[in-house]
Amino acid sequence: MTQELNGKIALVTGSCRGIGRACGKALAIAGAQVVLNWNESEDDINNVVTEIRSLGGKCMPVRADVSNEIDVRQMFNYIDEVWGAIDIVVNNAGVALSKPFLDSTEEDFQYIFDTNVRGAFFVGKEALRRMQGRSDLPRLINIGSELGYLGRPNNALYAASKAAMMNLTKSWATEFAPYVLVNTIAPGPISTRMLDPKRMSEESLELELNNPMGRLGTVDEVAGCVRFLSGPEATFITGQTLGPNGGAVMP
Ligand SMILES: NC(=O)c1ccc[n+]([C@@H]2O[C@H](COP(=O)([O-])OP(=O)(O)OC[C@H]3O[C@@H](n4cnc5c(N)ncnc54)[C@H](O)[C@@H]3O)[C@@H](O)[C@H]2O)c1
Repeated sequence: MTQELNGKIALVTGSCRGIGRACGKALAIAGAQVVLNWNESEDDINNVVTEIRSLGGKCMPVRADVSNEIDVRQMFNYIDEVWGAIDIVVNNAGVALSKPFLDSTEEDFQYIFDTNVRGAFFVGKEALRRMQGRSDLPRLINIGSELGYLGRPNNALYAASKAAMMNLTKSWATEFAPYVLVNTIAPGPISTRMLDPKRMSEESLELELNNPMGRLGTVDEVAGCVRFLSGPEATFITGQTLGPNGGAVMP
C-alpha cells in the first residue's frame, strides 16, 4: 500500500475482471477508496473485493449497467450518500465484436455503442456534474483503444465506438478546464477475456503482435497508466491520450 491517493474516492466501471479489475486494485493499493462497478458476475466481483481487502485496500462493489441512465444515476447517488464526493472516475466498461463489416447488423451497432459510447456518456455526465468547478483537480479517464486511431478490418463498429469515446475526452477536457483533468488511455492488445490469445487464430494473434515490442500487454501495464493519471504528478495533463501499446501507434 502507498499513500498517494489517500482520501480520494474512485470509481472504475466494469471492474469484475480484466483491465477494470487491475485498475481498481492499483487505485486501492495507492490509497484510494474504490467503487467497483459491475453488472455481470457477482462471484467475480466478490473475488475482486476479497483480494483488494486482503491487501488492506478499501473498496465497495456497486451493480449498474452503464448503458442504463437510471442505473448510472443511482450508482452515483449511492456513492454520494455512502462515501461522498467522487474524485476519480475510470470509464472502463466495454464490449467488443469482431465481424466482417457487411455482416454487421443494427443490433450489433446498438450492442457496441450502447456500452462503449452511451455508457461513457452517462457515466461522464454524472461524474462531470459532480466534478465541475472544484479546485482539487478531479480526474476522468476514458479507456479507449489503439483501434480508435487505427481502425481494423472486421472491427469497424468497435473501432468507431472507441474513436467516439476518445473524442469525448477532448471536448470534456476543454469544456471543464481548468477544474477537471480528462484524459484517454488507449491500450494496444492486452491479454484479457476480451482478447484471449488462447482463443485467437494464428493470423489474428500475429496481427496483435505486430507492434515494435512484439508482445501483448498486461492489465497491470494499463492500470499503471491509470494510477499515474489519477495521481499528484499528473496535474498539468488534460485532453491527452496515453498509449500502453508497445509502440504500435506513434501519433
Ligand atoms: N483487452 C484489450 O486488448 C483492450 C485493448 C484496448 C482497449 N480495451 C478496453 O479496455 C476495457 C476493458 O476491457 P477488457 O479487455 O478488460 O475486457 P473484459 O471483457 O475482460 O472486461 C470488460 C468489463 O466491462 C464490463 N461491462 C461490459 N458491459 C458493461 C455494462 N453495460 N455495464 C457495466 N459493465 C459492463 C464487463 O462485465 C467486464 O467487467 C474495454 O473498454 C475495452 O474496450 C481492451
